Amino acid sequence: PSCGSTKLEKTLAIIKPDGLLGNYTERVKETILESGFSILKEKTIQLDEDSVATFYAEHSAKNFFSSLVRYMISGPVLVMVLEKENAISCWRTLMGPTDASKAKITHPYSIRAMCGTNYEKNCVHGSDSPRSAQREISFFFSADAVTPHDEL
Ligand code: TYD
Ligand code: MG
Repeated sequence: PSCGSTKLEKTLAIIKPDGLLGNYTERVKETILESGFSILKEKTIQLDEDSVATFYAEHSAKNFFSSLVRYMISGPVLVMVLEKENAISCWRTLMGPTDASKAKITHPYSIRAMCGTNYEKNCVHGSDSPRSAQREISFFFSADAVTPHDEL
């Protein structure tokens, strides 16, 4: 569904190590709040290799995987549960395309364009479906962050 439908959803957002290192945290959070999301939960954590490998398991066979894991453990990340009508697709729209260097040309006002660098160092993560959102939220937060309403 397009951004703007009326289903209240939760999604998982991460400000990645380049976002924290580049001091983009406040700017990203302001953008999130100005865009009408509620930040229901947040915590700053240092991921380890095993947790990144589990989180990104769908990419484990990709050629960029080992580099992605190294990057994701290179510094702390800020993980957040965002809530809004149609939060999953709205947050992905706000983030912009995966490759931040292309986003700078095609989606210059997206977060990845403004705060990211390239395909890997793209500042932020967002769940890509209701199923991913449920898995990713419960990966980082206790089950009470996911209401029965959200279960598939
Ligand atoms: P993916 O799930 O395809 O993108 P998104 O974060 O937009 O959902 O990929 C996960 C992460 O893997 C992506 O944010 C950055 C990294 N990545 C690369 O480093 N190189 C690539 O070619 C791709 C596709 C992803
Ligand atoms: Mg993805």
